[in-house]
Amino acid sequence: MFATFDDGLEAARRRFARRGFPASVPGVDRPAFEIIRDPAAMRARAEDLRRDGRRIAVVPTMGALHDGHLALIHAARARADIVIFTLFVNPTQFGPTEDLSRYPRDEAGDLDKARGAGADLAFCPDVSAMYPPGAQTFVEVRELQKPLCGASRPGHFAGVTTIVAKLFHITQPHLAVFGEKDYQQLALIRRMTRDLDFGIEITSVAIVREPDGVAMSSRNAYLEPGQRLAARALSGALAAGAAAYAAGERDGAMIVAAARAIVDAEPLARLDYLEVRDAAELTVVERVAGPAVLAVAAFVGKTRLIDNCVLGRAGSPPSA
Ligand code: PAF
Repeated sequence: MFATFDDGLEAARRRFARRGFPASVPGVDRPAFEIIRDPAAMRARAEDLRRDGRRIAVVPTMGALHDGHLALIHAARARADIVIFTLFVNPTQFGPTEDLSRYPRDEAGDLDKARGAGADLAFCPDVSAMYPPGAQTFVEVRELQKPLCGASRPGHFAGVTTIVAKLFHITQPHLAVFGEKDYQQLALIRRMTRDLDFGIEITSVAIVREPDGVAMSSRNAYLEPGQRLAARALSGALAAGAAAYAAGERDGAMIVAAARAIVDAEPLARLDYLEVRDAAELTVVERVAGPAVLAVAAFVGKTRLIDNCVLGRAGSPPSA
């Protein structure tokens, strides 16, 4: 006899898989939601799932889930048999003066939302499990990490690529899903995955925006009402830059000037950067002749917000 109903179900699935039947019926044949905290246990579970022929998708997050994260889980759900949601506020990607201690945390709420959106399994490790004493190995994408957010947040991207590499090793996914709001992060993760032969498909999901155009972000929770209104300057700037591009402007500095005027007119916003860069290499673009990204970062109060749009891509710029 099997110890539990789930054990019996698993054994039946293995028997069917051995006989060449599909390992699962997407959306129907899903195991009960599981929470795993230990990296070794997570890896063992992922290896079992792979042995059973399951296609695994991972959605790495730092929690404080909003609709943008749920869109990532939905995209994963549509492409895989098993969706692993990871929840880990990664200390190595926060600088000494950044907001690690006040980063919004609501594990119970996040687990509910992730399960509701279609995750099968949550990996929620402790900091000591991910960075045991003596940990000193980092993964860095040398050039792509330097400009934009990398210039104002030294060390940030080494923290991101290191934790994502670890999460990939632990969760053994076929596919990983990331949001396009963190444009530079996505570019780095794609490059790391290619350079280090992870053999994982990276899927991206378009920015999810509030009705007024502001990109959804866990950091929006820090904004007071007046600041929340001021945050519209970022998407407004992108819309102005994209409108200049659509009107035929190809000079990077002119596109930036059109965008910059919107941020400069907002007294509560302080620009960090506003640049046109090559969409893949993130190098400076003087004249836009191929795919290019218009990226902005600005402080509203103490909160640093980012946003971007790919020039010339349908549906990319927020409307003015
Ligand atoms: O985008 C995020 O939430 C984080 O940078 C990530 C990718 C989960 C790594 O900690």
